[in-house]
Amino acid sequence: MNFQLTEEHLAVKEAAKEFTQTELLPGVIERDTHAIFPKEQVKKMGELGFLGMMVDPKYHGGGMDTLSYVIAMEELSKVDASASVAMSVNNSLVCWGLEKYGTEEQKEKYLKPLAAGEVLGAFCLSEPEAGSDATSQRTEAVLNGDHYLLNGTKNWITNGSSASIYLVIAQTHPELGHKGISVFIVEKNWEGFVVGKKEDKLGIRGSDTHSLMFSDVKVPLENRIGEEGFGFTFAMETLNGGRIGIAAQALGIAAGAYELALAYSKERKAFGKPISQHQAIQFKLADMATQIEAARLLVYKAAWTKDQGEDYSQASAIAKLYASQVAMDVTVEAIQIHGGYGYVKEYHVERLMRDAKITQIYEGTSEIQKIVISRGILR
Ligand code: CAA
Repeated sequence: MNFQLTEEHLAVKEAAKEFTQTELLPGVIERDTHAIFPKEQVKKMGELGFLGMMVDPKYHGGGMDTLSYVIAMEELSKVDASASVAMSVNNSLVCWGLEKYGTEEQKEKYLKPLAAGEVLGAFCLSEPEAGSDATSQRTEAVLNGDHYLLNGTKNWITNGSSASIYLVIAQTHPELGHKGISVFIVEKNWEGFVVGKKEDKLGIRGSDTHSLMFSDVKVPLENRIGEEGFGFTFAMETLNGGRIGIAAQALGIAAGAYELALAYSKERKAFGKPISQHQAIQFKLADMATQIEAARLLVYKAAWTKDQGEDYSQASAIAKLYASQVAMDVTVEAIQIHGGYGYVKEYHVERLMRDAKITQIYEGTSEIQKIVISRGILR
């Protein structure tokens, strides 16, 4: 077993770190306060290749492995989880499925601009009454000659208003339950497609989370991915990879908060010495470092398992479950080390704590990860 990162992996880490410090850090507090999507920053991420990292270069991607992707996700998430979730959705939830299951025509038309970062994608599974219970889709696509008519509402859609291309999960045969669900590529400017209200959130406030409404939207037959009835499997497989990205995001949030707390503890003096010299603080730092190291190993293991071509559903759920808990624990402790300063925006750690919470909710709650893990154990 080799725990050494390659030259390429280290170069990705360095590039992501530099981008984070120069482009994401300035303005991150303001974007969080006023819930501003990091539009210019995400555009630059596209130019630098962060939005299609794992896609084959022949479709304008970076041709990198999943480990490179999680390394970049960790670095960006140390500072701006709103930017990193846009990146995660585009890479894992949109490009991955299009590359794996799309037709050549679909890849030419949609994957290329998505992987090049010229446009952003969104993944539309959740509905007002279908969150964890993803089989309960109400959105319906009815075949009508050479197209489908799409009707319904999606909720909690990341990149909701910034995306141009949407992968939409919908029922085509409701009587067949999850085997009657299909998946379609939908363009934003099509008639009948309305971007609804933006959510005013606790964390990842810069991320644009919207509801979407479809009213008799004409979706050409050639925009269905795979056969009719393939949509649920498509969504589950996509989420297996998505969860690795969110686990990496959680890891980054934890690592970012830890680095800030460590630096602060060396500067801040109390009772005549830096607080890092007090055992009360040292024990906290030791616990945080241990949790982060364990989370990183699980995230890397999940990425590695995917790169080996093995079943990674279990590894990704374990990584997400653990890393998201670590993100919560570590960010709370980072605030505690900062004392009163940790409770104000200027010191960043309160934002990281708010951002951490979503990693236990989206792309499957912690309870959903436990279902996936326990089913894997008992299979
Ligand atoms: N990988 C591959 N296939 C899977 C799977 C997985 N992890 N989990 C289930 N499946 C397959 C099953 O094998 C089964 O297939 P067959 O019928 O062919 O045998 C089919 O899916 C149905 O499985 P279940 O009977 O187990 O379905 P269920 O109703 O019990 O639900 C669940 C299983 C794990 C709870 C699933 O519904 C689930 O993962 N829910 C959470 C959904 C979710 O993560 N939503 C997040 C929204 S996306 C988001 O947040 C994106 C964003 O914007 C950031």
